[in-house]
Parts: sequence; structure tokens; C-alpha cells
Amino acid sequence: MKRTKYTIANWKMNGLNNSIKLVKSIENHIKKTKHSKSKIIICPPFTLLSNFTKIEKKISFGGQDCHYLNNGAFTGSISASMLKSIGCKYVIIGHSERRQYQNELSKELKLKIKSALASNLKVIYCIGEKFSEIKRRNKVLASQINSLPTNFKFKSIIIAYEPVWAIGTGKVPSLNQINNIHSKIRLLLAKKIGHNNSNKISILYGGSVNAQNASEILNLSQVDGVLVGGASLKVPDFSKIIDSYK
Ligand code: 13P
Repeated sequence: MKRTKYTIANWKMNGLNNSIKLVKSIENHIKKTKHSKSKIIICPPFTLLSNFTKIEKKISFGGQDCHYLNNGAFTGSISASMLKSIGCKYVIIGHSERRQYQNELSKELKLKIKSALASNLKVIYCIGEKFSEIKRRNKVLASQINSLPTNFKFKSIIIAYEPVWAIGTGKVPSLNQINNIHSKIRLLLAKKIGHNNSNKISILYGGSVNAQNASEILNLSQVDGVLVGGASLKVPDFSKIIDSYK
């Protein structure tokens, strides 16, 4: 089945107001190369979003997190409906850095996913094992996938498999491993939502993707795109990643 491919930039806590130049350069690159092989999404810090969504046409934007309620006394939080109201189409949920530093657990993630879907945002749901969990990876991934609802528009969820030990470390699983793990993730999805529906969901790889390794990762049969951290902050590198689809 032909699934939508995604090239997604997660800027994390990086980027200041002048980062609009970076977005414009990527936009120009997409126009110049007439790139149409993947959807390009940038997820910058919240403070930059409304500036970016006003201007750009070829790129879509997403938040890096959202609260599970629409509004209320939650100092420092942003809701899915707020993201939607400034023109976001996507939101990352369950990134391992939030699971680790904000203690986000599956019960809360489940609610966040529901809230994002109710606001018509597409969810980029991150899953992945820690180094100490490699031996029981399948169990870890199964329990993370369990946070997904069973009843949703299947094209509204994108899975990003990001082994925690590969994030920002320069370590990447072998190509064979990536392909096998993605197949296993699809089997786990099939158990939850049925074979046909599981085939509609794009599964991306993330963790130390760079301009050099993107092309071999993107050409794996089970990989439907990439979620890129560090390399997405450099125009030449991110452009090369965008150009890596066959
Ligand atoms: P790096 O590409 O910097 O390893 O980060 C990956 C990531 O966490 C994207 O969400």
C-alpha cells in the first residue's frame, strides 16, 4: 500500500525569532526542487509557531506537545485547540524527552492524543525503547502503542519510532534492524486496529538521522519518512535529507 511519506523537523528548544530565515530557505528549496515525494513539517518551539504559520505555504507546522484539555488553570501549557487556532496541522505527542523529563505516562498521553484528534490535528506519536530495554523492545513498543485509541481516522496518526539510545548520539540501528522493527510495529498496530487499517499508518524513523544516512534509511521498504532533530536545524543538511527520497 502507498502511504504518505513525511520529513519532519523537531527543533526541540532551539530557534529564535530570526529562525524565519531558516524556514524560508527550506521553503525555497522545496519550490526550487519541486519536491513532492514527502510532506515537509516543521515543529518549532511554541513561540515561533504563529509567525511561521502566517507566512509559509509549502511547509506545514506542528507543536511539540499539547495539553489534554482545551483550557483551564494549567500554567505554561498549550492546548491542541490553541495550536489548531494558529494554523498548526500537526502535534508531536509522547516524545521520549517529554516522557523522561516531564514524566509523561501512558494515561496522560492517551488523553493528549484524543484531545489532538478532537481538534483535528494529526498526531505524530513517538515510541521507542531505552538502551536498557532493548532486550524487551517488543513489550515496550506494544505498551506504548496501547496508548492509541482504537477508533480514529487512521490517516490522522503518524508513528515515529525513535529508539531513545539513538537520539542525539550518532548511534543508529542497522538498516535491517530498522526495517524489522518497523514491520513489528505494524504487526502490533494490526493487532490493535486490524490489518487493513494498520497499513494506512505511516511509520517514520527518528534518531541521529543526518544528511549522510538519510537516503539509505528512507529507501527501506518499511520506512515512511523521518523525524529529524539536530540535522533539521541546518539548511544544507535538512535540504539534503529532503532530497534523499528515490
Ligand atoms: P536527533 O535527530 O538529534 O537524534 O533527534 C531525534 C529526535 O529526537 C527527533 O524527535
